[in-house]
Amino acid sequence: MAGLIGTVTLNLALDVTYEVDELQVGGSHRVDRIRRRAGGKGVNVARVAATLGHQVLVLGFVGGVTGELVAEELFDAGLTALLTPIAGETRRTVAIVNGVDGDATIFNEAGPTVSADEWRAFLDRMPWGRMGVLACSGSLPPGLPSDAYAELAVRARHHDVLSVIDTGGDALTAAAKTGAVVRANASELRAAVGDVEVEEGASELVALGAAAAVITDGPRGMVAASKKGVWRALPVETVSGNPTGAGDACTAVVAAVVAESPEPDWSAVLKSAVAASAAAVLTPVAGDIDLAAYRRWQPQVTVN
Ligand SMILES: Nc1ncnc2c1ncn2[C@@H]1O[C@H](COP(=O)(O)OP(=O)(O)OP(=O)(O)O)[C@@H](O)[C@H]1O
Ligand SMILES: [Mg+2]
Repeated sequence: MAGLIGTVTLNLALDVTYEVDELQVGGSHRVDRIRRRAGGKGVNVARVAATLGHQVLVLGFVGGVTGELVAEELFDAGLTALLTPIAGETRRTVAIVNGVDGDATIFNEAGPTVSADEWRAFLDRMPWGRMGVLACSGSLPPGLPSDAYAELAVRARHHDVLSVIDTGGDALTAAAKTGAVVRANASELRAAVGDVEVEEGASELVALGAAAAVITDGPRGMVAASKKGVWRALPVETVSGNPTGAGDACTAVVAAVVAESPEPDWSAVLKSAVAASAAAVLTPVAGDIDLAAYRRWQPQVTVN
């Protein structure tokens, strides 16, 4: 049996959604409905992987009352979590949904500072023996070294665990150099390797050392590169909906495959990843996917 999919979210959040009749800057509003959910890109990855039937382990830091709410919501969602306590208070993100047009206005707190001791405690309690893959995604909280993901990937490798790292810019090239599978969207890729075609940029990351690179390209689908070749897969149809979290659905599929086999058939992986990402666009909340749509599209995706 493949091991757990460990999903790392170094900057966990409580995502709070307020629904109001009409949002007016400077006005006073009655909040008709409040929703609270654990958030952060790694949590989206964990939710999608769990929906696809895989065993996940959510890894991150929690602090204060907000941290307790995050831990409770993960439990209620059926997601197993190993959370390292910190002195600071877990951040919140607030989305205010305007009843008139359904648009969301979003406020993202930066997150608490994580101390060097707290970071060490996190690294020391990683259950490497039980993990099939380590998936890292999302922003870093203040206090952590900028090469935190690369450090995690190197430690994972020492325990024969492959990492999938979803990031951009210099952190992406640093992750590639560790031999991890790297994930980014087209603009994150260009922030790392310059203004190139997605296919060319993905191949550059493999040349730097990445086991593979899977780059999402919005409605134009996605590209995978490994030493064996470069592939692009197109969505079966362009759907309208909420694209936030579509890339996280791709990361979930990539992590699940890598947990089973470190050198998969990347063209086959792309079929599942493209179907899952489009199925994520269909649902209004990041971290959810439309499972029926995923199953319908998966066999129909074309790969070049
Ligand atoms: N309108 C759409 N219809 C069908 N598939 C889509 C659409 N938009 C995006 N996708 C799929 O979702 C994938 C991920 O999209 P995108 O490149 O925008 O990810 P992202 O910016 O990393 O997203 P996030 O980080 O918010 O999860 C794309 O590669 C594509 O396959
Ligand atoms: Mg992304």
